[in-house]
Amino acid sequence: MSIIIAPSILSADLTRLGEQVQQAEEGGADWIHVDVMDGRFVPNITFGPNVVKAVKRTTNLPIDVHLMIVEPEKHLQAFADAGTNYITVHYETCPHIHRTLQTIQDLGMFPGIVINPGTPVNTLVELTEYVNKVLIMTVNPGFGGQSFIESMVDKIRRTKHLLETSGSEASIQVDGGISSKTIKACYDAGARNFIAGSAIFEHKDGIAAGIAALRHALIL
Ligand code: DX5
Ligand code: ZN
Repeated sequence: MSIIIAPSILSADLTRLGEQVQQAEEGGADWIHVDVMDGRFVPNITFGPNVVKAVKRTTNLPIDVHLMIVEPEKHLQAFADAGTNYITVHYETCPHIHRTLQTIQDLGMFPGIVINPGTPVNTLVELTEYVNKVLIMTVNPGFGGQSFIESMVDKIRRTKHLLETSGSEASIQVDGGISSKTIKACYDAGARNFIAGSAIFEHKDGIAAGIAALRHALIL
């Protein structure tokens, strides 16, 4: 399974978003990650479908939308229309998650499920065949630049075991505190898809250097 690096525009300089996304693409990013927050499920408020549409105009890379909102089912059509390729919904926000994952698929997007640090891996048991990826949060969602929660490494391992034993082809994505110091442990535990905000957009030598540092840490 190949490696995916998905820069999160939450940490980008929004006064020149298009330029920064292009630099990420030229620097070897695989996807662009867009964090959607509503001030209810998480304390912060960020982007909507209009930002996805704008990012889509500046890049050919797939767009990965991470919905941190209550009642995500109300907004799936709008994100599909905006050009979203991959979309993840939080388990904690979906009372009818099986239906929500099905709707995502019917709208032509790849569905993923996200679980918070405090949400058990077992919640995924009935859902592994309906998702393209499982996103394990390695911080509590809401903000960029938080510290990686070390105990999530074992959770990644347990998720990998669950996916393997259930015969699922879903990949494991991680989000939060991913840096050249933490990425390898996540890889060794089974993650293949890495979201990073501050480690890329706030790298002292620029966006391309941030992506290169993550890839380099994976081969050490
Ligand atoms: C946090 C978001 C992340 C965020 C990660 O709730 O889901 O995608 O951008 O930022 P870093 O990589 O700085 O922890
Ligand atoms: Zn995210």
